[in-house]
Amino acid sequence: MIQRDTSTTKRLLSADVSNSKDEANVFENTLRPQTLSEYIGQDEVKKNLAVSLQASKKREEPLEHALIHGPPGLGKTTLANIMAREMGVNIRVTSGPALEKQGDVASIITNLRDKDILFIDEIHRLKPAVEEVLYTAMEDFGIDLIIGKGPSARSMRLQLPKFTLIGATTKMSMLSAPLRDRFGLIFRLDFYKEAQLQTIIERSATILNCSIDQQASRLVAASARQTPRIANRLLRRVRDFAEVNDAKVITVEIVEKAFDDLGIDPLGLDSLDRNILNTIIDKFQGGPVGLNTIAAAVSEEQDTVEDIYEPYLLKLGFLERTPRGRTVTQLAYRHLGIPTPNTLI
Ligand code: ADE
Repeated sequence: MIQRDTSTTKRLLSADVSNSKDEANVFENTLRPQTLSEYIGQDEVKKNLAVSLQASKKREEPLEHALIHGPPGLGKTTLANIMAREMGVNIRVTSGPALEKQGDVASIITNLRDKDILFIDEIHRLKPAVEEVLYTAMEDFGIDLIIGKGPSARSMRLQLPKFTLIGATTKMSMLSAPLRDRFGLIFRLDFYKEAQLQTIIERSATILNCSIDQQASRLVAASARQTPRIANRLLRRVRDFAEVNDAKVITVEIVEKAFDDLGIDPLGLDSLDRNILNTIIDKFQGGPVGLNTIAAAVSEEQDTVEDIYEPYLLKLGFLERTPRGRTVTQLAYRHLGIPTPNTLI
């Protein structure tokens, strides 16, 4: 049976970025495409974005406020950085939870120049009071400050540079309608096709100066959960494995051995994915069962199961969402090698 360090595997497949300074993220940053033409996939988004960029530059105006949404690891931050580069402006990066007070927003925006970009990751996690100052900032490029206290308090409008706000979110449904309505551009990123991931892996291998053959890059792509960030992390693990085994080229054998050690199966499922499916099957007769019950049964946070694990299992058609909870499908039984119950046939 496969030996594994689940904490490593979890981080490897989670598409999560918890510490921007750690080695994995430095690695990820070196692989980010810098221009729209280097950015692989998301063709519809690129096409519409190219028009907006060109029009804004021609009019010498800031880019409209843009909202980018989609699952983690698909390139929202990368796209925001590309937008800044293509516009030839600076980008200031922050996140919803990092903006604690209204004053934080005021001080960041007043330090921007006209056309500069403010990127707010996890914008669905803004505090209501902070979100409110963004409304006038986005709409009128102004912030109303209250000067003084009590009956003599006055309101004064602070004029801001004509900046562009780019918001990114994995949870579009948690964004309030007033905030959502203030974005002129809305882009939804989709999961990547295997061929696109293969191209990304081969591009990354070239940048990292390592050799990977085509069948091997296809195998890594197939296990990358349709997510570039995961593809690049898997490449890194496989590259390490090749290095310690003195292999000059990453081959299918190297990838298979590395994945076996990591407990990753050919569809990119890890031990927690399999645990989720097995738990629903063993303890809840295949479902339906509520998400909070599943999370408790596998000893994980509900957010982790919902945001990181469930989307890919739904995408594979291994899980279905019903009004009464989650159900395991016939496809999942087949993948796990468990006989399908008669009720599903
Ligand atoms: N690295 C991460 N995402 C990418 C993308 N969409 N295109 C090229 N390289 C990437």
